[in-house]
Amino acid sequence: MTAPLKHSDPITVDVALGARAYDIVIGRDVLGSLGARVAALRPGARTAIVTDRNVAKHWLEKTEASLAQAGIATSRIVVEEGEGSKTYAGLERVSEALIAARIERNDLVVALGGGVVGDLAGFAAAILRRGVDFVQVPTSLLAQVDSSVGGKTGINSPQGKNLLGAFHQPVLVIADTSVLDTLSPRQFRAGYAEVAKYGVLGDEGFFARYAKILKLEVTRLEREIAQHTYSPRVQEDYMSGIRSGVNGTPTFFINGVRYDGYPEFGPLISALETA
Ligand SMILES: NC(=O)c1ccc[n+]([C@@H]2O[C@H](COP(=O)([O-])OP(=O)(O)OC[C@H]3O[C@@H](n4cnc5c(N)ncnc54)[C@H](O)[C@@H]3O)[C@@H](O)[C@H]2O)c1
Repeated sequence: MTAPLKHSDPITVDVALGARAYDIVIGRDVLGSLGARVAALRPGARTAIVTDRNVAKHWLEKTEASLAQAGIATSRIVVEEGEGSKTYAGLERVSEALIAARIERNDLVVALGGGVVGDLAGFAAAILRRGVDFVQVPTSLLAQVDSSVGGKTGINSPQGKNLLGAFHQPVLVIADTSVLDTLSPRQFRAGYAEVAKYGVLGDEGFFARYAKILKLEVTRLEREIAQHTYSPRVQEDYMSGIRSGVNGTPTFFINGVRYDGYPEFGPLISALETA
């Protein structure tokens, strides 16, 4: 368990995508408003909640209660937690369960979980009856800051991660910060690393502010990366550096140059470990 975040008023971000525009509602306890928001968005729709076992333990009942209070029929599809569900077999299970739950074109799929559930449920929604809308209720920090927005959905192939998928925008995102209270410190750190990555790779000013909040010393390595043009290759290398750094010695490749066991990276790693 991590320390609860401070209370604040909900923030609504309007993602202006024309006919595919949607709201991201961010704040503590906004999950309770899910039912009313879904009822207003899609009167008469049924819903199926796709979640994983971990998240179900903590948040499924609250999600169901919110939908039930608004008079919305719902069914639950619970998959195993972890990347193993983001597979052909996982997709088959979820798709068949959605058909069995009689989710039709005007109904909604609710993805309640981290990036795995969001990607899997979003992709199942994208292909069910040639496309059913879905709502994202991201429950990991990584899902709240990254995977639940932008409309990327999909599963892994035995030949590589995220090789099968579709762009399918959610119709609503409910990012309730209180659900983060049940994340393990390790899962929380993965989200922090993602936020740090945005700063380092895309916005030096943001990273400097973020580093200040986490009381990090911005090192030569980070400054060096921040000066590079954003590139997926650098992003990938930086993330694998953070991951291996959390577990052992960080190794980076920046523009083809290998950096081994970079000692200056220590403060970021320890801040992530103690965050
Ligand atoms: N679609 C995108 O744009 C995008 C972007 C980045 C990552 N991703 C994908 O996201 C996935 C990783 O996401 P993730 O780190 O959230 O992994 P995850 O969904 O596996 O969640 C990590 C763990 O945290 C648990 N968990 C989640 N929320 C919880 C909560 N509130 N309380 C207790 N436990 C909770 C889960 O059960 C799981 O065990 C990868 O598959 C990656 O490819 C997608």
